[in-house]
Amino acid sequence: MQRRDFLKTSSVTLSYLGFFGLTSLNAKENNLIGFKAVPASTQDDVIVPDGYEVKPLISFGDILFDNAMPLSEKKIINKNTIANATKVFGDNNDGMALFPLNDNGYILVVNNEYINPEWIFNDNGKNINLDKVAYEQNLLGISIFEIRQEKDGFKVVLDSPYNRRITAHTPIRISGVAKGHKSMQTQADKKGELILGTLQNCANGQTPWGTYLTCEENFDYCFGASDSNHNFTESQKRYGIKSKSVYGWEIDSRFDVSKNPNEPNRFGWIVEIDPYDPKSTPIKRTALGRFKHENVEIVLSKDSYVVAYMGDDEANEFLYKFISKEKFNPKNPQKNRNLLEEGTLYVARIQGENLSGEGEWIALNYGQNGLDSKNGFYSQADVLINARLAGSIVGATPMDRPEWIAADPRGEYIYATLTNNKKREITDAANPRAKNIYGQIIRWNPKEKNHLSTKFKWDIFLLAGNPVQYPNDLRKGTSNITSENMFNSPDGLKFDKFGRLWIQSDGDYSNKGDYAGMGNNQMLCANPNTGEVRRFLTAPIAAEVTGIAFSKDYKTMFVGIQHPGENLAPSHYPNGGNSTPRSTIVQITKKDGGVIGS
Ligand code: FEO
Ligand code: CA
Ligand code: CA
Ligand code: CA
Repeated sequence: MQRRDFLKTSSVTLSYLGFFGLTSLNAKENNLIGFKAVPASTQDDVIVPDGYEVKPLISFGDILFDNAMPLSEKKIINKNTIANATKVFGDNNDGMALFPLNDNGYILVVNNEYINPEWIFNDNGKNINLDKVAYEQNLLGISIFEIRQEKDGFKVVLDSPYNRRITAHTPIRISGVAKGHKSMQTQADKKGELILGTLQNCANGQTPWGTYLTCEENFDYCFGASDSNHNFTESQKRYGIKSKSVYGWEIDSRFDVSKNPNEPNRFGWIVEIDPYDPKSTPIKRTALGRFKHENVEIVLSKDSYVVAYMGDDEANEFLYKFISKEKFNPKNPQKNRNLLEEGTLYVARIQGENLSGEGEWIALNYGQNGLDSKNGFYSQADVLINARLAGSIVGATPMDRPEWIAADPRGEYIYATLTNNKKREITDAANPRAKNIYGQIIRWNPKEKNHLSTKFKWDIFLLAGNPVQYPNDLRKGTSNITSENMFNSPDGLKFDKFGRLWIQSDGDYSNKGDYAGMGNNQMLCANPNTGEVRRFLTAPIAAEVTGIAFSKDYKTMFVGIQHPGENLAPSHYPNGGNSTPRSTIVQITKKDGGVIGS
């Protein structure tokens, strides 16, 4: 079938029940979802189903230490406020994870992905200077803090020994074969072994040995070139580095590629953090490749190798997986600490028709499949630092912006959000819509349920769409999308231990035209056994829903509300009145004390 004909054909069955044959179910699996759906909303609030309660846990600028000052509406930038920024909860909370403590407390580790200059400065970010750059650099990174359950919900424990901020200035070690490579060396770090900071920390992962993984995504926003004649390398271009950065940080010479051409090579990695040891130095894991990492989902193979599934969030970039060289051994905690040091990185090639098919993982190994000097690769470090370029050489399949990846609780099926891709011209089975404005969720299972296998089968779990606006073509979405649950741009994705699939959206919230009837961004719950999708939560004005974590008993759910009021949209969430809107983590409970979603 011609690719172009695919969209026109009427024989395409918009079914969510593909080759997995998951139609024969017991009643329990049919009744996974117990709440009444909430309608689409344009209100400036977080709305949850009847019988549920929602309240803020922490918002941007709230203090983590007794001696810190909460963020002030005066928005004054000076030495004190710049230093203070490292003692408050950072901006734009994104991926997060809970680490249990012995006595019912938790350490909550949260990414602070980026900054909204339009809200943190009195000039709405119109003019940049070095003080503002330093302030911004202190507001992103990671926030780590203890929380504890009290009668009326979880509270932040100020001054806990676990409380810590990691910013764009925190020293971070490099591990794996790119450590010390000449492309990693800079004037400030001649050995290429120690990086200052982690940036644009999007979503996350959690290892079976109790560490947090934070994923560096849009680091290109931070880099520019002051020299208008700077010749951008093929690699710099592929990773999106331009003369003028999004943030204007090139006035800080570290972020000026005409002065420090290798500094961008030191971002775009997965960083491992031990939250239980607040003095530990985080580690950039170069074995997992450099790209715009969204999240990382770790599963163990049957024989205990560590398999990490990852997406590169950019139009027409790839899906990846990593397999560790050594096995996980619960009896040897110290050795597990190095499992992400060494292994094999693979990239996905996907074929099929009618929204399902087969795929394979192609190893990104120096010297194989054209990854050699003829194509500009001189070592495995070159391959890992330029994973995108390597993926293209080996024939990986360009995807519709891979965001989060989630494994079902049995570890058999892997789901991934492909958020949208307005740049798609040539369609294929897994990315079946040109100018894809709504996004889809793909899932795959490895051959013989073996995550070490290089072969897999896949199908589309859902195509998001608008069945009211476009009832007659693929834009209507799969049959599990209705006027009641429609949304666009699936992004955050996580299973709870009962098998419910939670979906968070980061899409167009105009509620007009192509997006009419969808309202604000939202969170939905899907039953992967039946394909049913039900709306669970709606977000405030101009916010994204991203980041999810559960208490051990699954009776409290933590959800991230990111950038309410972005681009000066009229939000005052969560404090109301005339206040500056603030990214916030909310905690959600069921009034009857039950499990969330039941
Ligand atoms: Fe930070 Fe692709 O989302
Ligand atoms: Ca995202
Ligand atoms: Ca997104
Ligand atoms: Ca975002």
